[in-house]
Amino acid sequence: MLFSTTSTLFLAIAAGVQHVAGLELKIDDDASIRQAAATAAEIMFLYYNNSEATSESGKRGLLNSPYYWWESGAMWGAMLDYWKLTGDTKYMSQTSDALQYQLGNNSDFMMDDQVFDTGNDDQAFWAVNALTAAEYGFPNLPAPHPPWIQVAANVFNDMQARWDTTTCGGGLQWQIFKSNANGQNYKNSISNSGFFQIAARLARFTGNTTYSEWANKVYDWESAIGLIDPQNYNVYDGSDTKINCTEINHVTWSYNVGMTIYGAAMMYDISEGTEKDTWATRVQGFVNASAAFFSYTSNATNIMFENACEQYDTCKTDQFPFKGFLARWLSKTSVLVPSTNATISTWLQASAQGAALSCSGETNSTCGERWYIAGYDGNAGPGQQMSALEVFDSLLINNIPLPLKGSSSSASSSSSTSSTLTTLSTVTSTSSTPASTTSPPATTTASTAATTSVTSGATTTTSTLNMGAIASEIAGAAASGNP
Ligand SMILES: *[C@@H]1O[C@H](CO)[C@@H](O)[C@H](O)[C@H]1NC(C)=O
Ligand SMILES: *[C@@H]1O[C@H](CO)[C@@H](O)[C@H](O)[C@H]1NC(C)=O
Ligand SMILES: *[C@@H]1O[C@H](CO)[C@@H](O)[C@H](O)[C@H]1NC(C)=O
Ligand SMILES: *[C@@H]1O[C@H](CO)[C@@H](O)[C@H](O)[C@H]1NC(C)=O
Ligand SMILES: *[C@@H]1O[C@H](CO)[C@@H](O)[C@H](O)[C@H]1NC(C)=O
Ligand SMILES: *[C@@H]1O[C@H](CO)[C@@H](O)[C@H](O)[C@H]1NC(C)=O
Ligand SMILES: *[C@@H]1O[C@H](CO)[C@@H](O)[C@H](O)[C@H]1NC(C)=O
Ligand SMILES: *[C@@H]1O[C@H](CO)[C@@H](O)[C@H](O)[C@H]1NC(C)=O
Repeated sequence: MLFSTTSTLFLAIAAGVQHVAGLELKIDDDASIRQAAATAAEIMFLYYNNSEATSESGKRGLLNSPYYWWESGAMWGAMLDYWKLTGDTKYMSQTSDALQYQLGNNSDFMMDDQVFDTGNDDQAFWAVNALTAAEYGFPNLPAPHPPWIQVAANVFNDMQARWDTTTCGGGLQWQIFKSNANGQNYKNSISNSGFFQIAARLARFTGNTTYSEWANKVYDWESAIGLIDPQNYNVYDGSDTKINCTEINHVTWSYNVGMTIYGAAMMYDISEGTEKDTWATRVQGFVNASAAFFSYTSNATNIMFENACEQYDTCKTDQFPFKGFLARWLSKTSVLVPSTNATISTWLQASAQGAALSCSGETNSTCGERWYIAGYDGNAGPGQQMSALEVFDSLLINNIPLPLKGSSSSASSSSSTSSTLTTLSTVTSTSSTPASTTSPPATTTASTAATTSVTSGATTTTSTLNMGAIASEIAGAAASGNP
């Protein structure tokens, strides 16, 4: 059943051909890459199909517990990439449905029934899908839903209104709702870099300088506070408002630098002169910082790994998809900033090969967590499938056009839920060159960060932050499983 549409593998098994460990992946053969991606997507979708079968109506688009709302958003982002990069339309209508069901009454991915696990980072993971949909020309939702770019602008407006100058000189709090007790005093990178990336992509799509001004403002704040290290471009996890962000939690996660680099690549793309040079330096800085997530062992050169937890076997549910986001955003960066292409391609090719070897469990093609062991490590789940899927897809990034742009009137300042705004008819391709997360992500991110450094000493963090305070603040969340 499972492989009824993955013909090669199915036939090989059916014919009694000896099973070859892992998915077959030839990095120079697009058909082979598409096949590997199709298999990874199909297995990932089994988790979703099971969830959909057991959830009440109105919950369409969501993975069941223990996968938080943000991870479902991340999954649909992977499906948008899968659709565009492979050309396979099989999951398009389910993707469209999922985004529509989770859009909310104000067309900004704020859901009344997800308040308990919606922080700024969680909303950001859904919001970047709206940008991807706009940039890829994914069909807009039917009326009365607004065009994708307006959905992204609505989220920007929400976040702009949440910008908090009462502590730390600015920044977004991790949490949005006071009712969400976990991580109330945390200002983290994934929320702020999420806002930065959303602003930068809106700036490029619409040409509206309000968005680029905000992108600069958020970036400068992250840099000033030390979430982004201006010397080595590490993107650290977060800081505590109770100490006015005077100390930093130095744990690094692959998705933080991933979220940040793509915003920087967008800013590079729209800048000129010395500003362009500045963004070029920053993008290269984030490439340099990304190197920490590759080459764990000398026999696993250029293969990606989650360096705060994977080697210690302490990664948690929320962290399994992180490598996929780094692959997603590095590959897209390599197109916008061609000087990064050689390094990034080398990394992604080796990582995809490692991932393919890991996809040899359970169904015979189920992917594992670790890509550097040349096999399946017994650790399966939708996040692991997502990571493998995105690293396979990323090899096809040079086959698609540059992200689309619209016009400056593509999005409006007042939160809009109507479809009467500029639609994709105003969108023109700017180039035909085929160059071209209490809450979830951060919640467990922070909690893992805290517990890892406090209890195991296994990380290489040199943080002097009051980890005890952060750990106790979010321990309840970790213990209860509430992101
Ligand atoms: C998931 O379920 C949908 C709806 O029944 C179906 O169209 C799709 O093929 C299923 N996907 C997989 C991978 O089984
Ligand atoms: C939309 O608004 C209605 C009426 O206020 C509310 O009952 C419902 O929960 C809202 N839906 C979402 C997804 O937030
Ligand atoms: C808190 O930090 C910000 C940014 O560094 C600074 O401007 C502000 O003066 C600080 N507030 C206090 C009370 O120290
Ligand atoms: C990135 O690393 C290269 C090679 O080590 C170095 O020459 C370059 O200055 C670094 N760039 C930044 C922005 O740190
Ligand atoms: C996995 O491969 C083994 C050996 O070829 C085979 O017996 C088994 O049926 C396969 N499992 C699935 C789910 O295809
Ligand atoms: C690297 O060597 C270790 C120890 O021998 C082994 O377990 C691992 O599978 C190897 N990794 C690769 C990618 O070959
Ligand atoms: C640019 O965006 C801002 C914020 O949404 C809005 O207030 C402004 O009117 C927009 N400018 C133009 C020229 O569309
Ligand atoms: C990036 O590198 C890959 C792998 O070497 C190559 O196939 C591709 O053409 C390069 N892309 C650009 C835009 O140079």
